[in-house]
Amino acid sequence: MDSDDTPSNTNSELSVPSPYDNVLVLRQTNQLIALLTKIRSKETKRGDFIFYSDRIIRLLVEAGLNYLPVTEVTVDTYTGNTYTGVQFEGKICGVSVMRAGESMEQGLRDCCRSVRIGKILIQRDEETSEAKLYYSKLPEDIADRWVFLLDPMLATGGSAIKAVEVLKKRGVSEERIIFLNLISSPEGIKHFRDTFPQLRVVTSFIDKGLNDKNFIVPGLGDFGDRYYTD
Ligand code: URA
Repeated sequence: MDSDDTPSNTNSELSVPSPYDNVLVLRQTNQLIALLTKIRSKETKRGDFIFYSDRIIRLLVEAGLNYLPVTEVTVDTYTGNTYTGVQFEGKICGVSVMRAGESMEQGLRDCCRSVRIGKILIQRDEETSEAKLYYSKLPEDIADRWVFLLDPMLATGGSAIKAVEVLKKRGVSEERIIFLNLISSPEGIKHFRDTFPQLRVVTSFIDKGLNDKNFIVPGLGDFGDRYYTD
């Protein structure tokens, strides 16, 4: 064991290490690798795919919340003592990149009660193969909020970059966006980071690369299909 819960007694494949300070790869614990193994497997049916993806999403949300600013607060406890801790400061919202990103909304709601959620629909233009914005609906005051951008697969980076451009046009600064993502490719991470050097990314795994159809490999296939229809 490398540490008390990092798998080294098996041949399990671990993430490519994060190449950048602002890209956090979740700790490669036995638990996380077991969850990822489930969702990668072709044998895993939709019900289990949802269940295990949701567990990873929860880990991503919890890790992302650590980036929010806090202020000191002292509370009275039931023993007649006080405890000095912290409380979150500032408003947040989620923005999902449709449709796969919508799968991550509940995980955010589970941690942040009545959180506002916006949506962005981006699709690749068949002719130019550029990511094109089709629809967006965002909270009015989004520029004053910390934004959790939700998209489970970071392949080439095209749609995530387009989504951030939409947020920036609405006045959200890069420093206030936290991109939560299950699996990314090294190419996508580099493209994203070269475009937005300040923006924080939390991912559970950086895979080996992309295939000729721009699917992440070894990957898990089409996340939206597996979560919603397969
Ligand atoms: N989107 C997916 O769902 N899977 C990939 O591998 C890449 C993009």
